[in-house]
Amino acid sequence: MKTIHSNYGTLFIGDQESLLAFLLELLQNACNKMPKSPARIGLSGGSTPQAFYRWCVDNEKLPPALIERALWFVSDERCVPLDHPDSNFGVADRLLLKPLQASSAVKWPWPVDALPPETATLFNDRWREQFGMEAGFDLCLLGMGDDGHTASLFPLSPLIESGVEESFASVGVTGKGWRLTITPAGLQRCSQIVVSVQGSGKAAALKKALEGPFEPYKIPIQLLRHAAERVIWLLDEAAAAELSLGRQ
Ligand code: 6PG
Repeated sequence: MKTIHSNYGTLFIGDQESLLAFLLELLQNACNKMPKSPARIGLSGGSTPQAFYRWCVDNEKLPPALIERALWFVSDERCVPLDHPDSNFGVADRLLLKPLQASSAVKWPWPVDALPPETATLFNDRWREQFGMEAGFDLCLLGMGDDGHTASLFPLSPLIESGVEESFASVGVTGKGWRLTITPAGLQRCSQIVVSVQGSGKAAALKKALEGPFEPYKIPIQLLRHAAERVIWLLDEAAAAELSLGRQ
């Protein structure tokens, strides 16, 4: 894989198999770093992670012992029931956690049966009680939309410049309804962040985010610049095609 250092973290550009294998290694490392307490893993939503879930299950890459050594979350969620096809935790549960017989004790879905603001409050309260206010994900997986959003931090989101101290929040998103998401403060508390961006449809947005002006209010994934030393980007060639970074 090609490695490029940037102001937003370290980019790894490779083929599907090498990206999947590297993500598995990062997940295993996060779990093994926490011998005495379970690692907190924030899975990302959207479609990109689904190939990883299927690869792990089909190829028996994640032993049950490792699954039980972590607590499983999603870094953002839609306000739909867990059995809804759009539920980020529901998808992770159906494609990864259930097939690997994860126990309910290690599953931490958002309490989506409450109203969105209450869901965020309940989730933050439970997180604070269990882990403390300053705790973050040990490994936070993120994706990027073709508008530069990540998690449910969309362009012009009020959460970006709000200075909200909580790690998680609910937010109304024009055209998408209510969302639940990790906040900028929550991103800062993560020990390791891995952003998976694949496909030619993301190439222009990725170039703008990594090589354009720093304007995180409009390009929320640029918030990762504040955590660059803890950010890894897993990119396929198509998504990285327009980058000048690392090219002689
Ligand atoms: C969500 C995600 C979102 C996603 C990006 C990329 O809830 O939709 O958290 O931030 O990661 O939109 O989505 P794809 O992987 O489907 O391109």
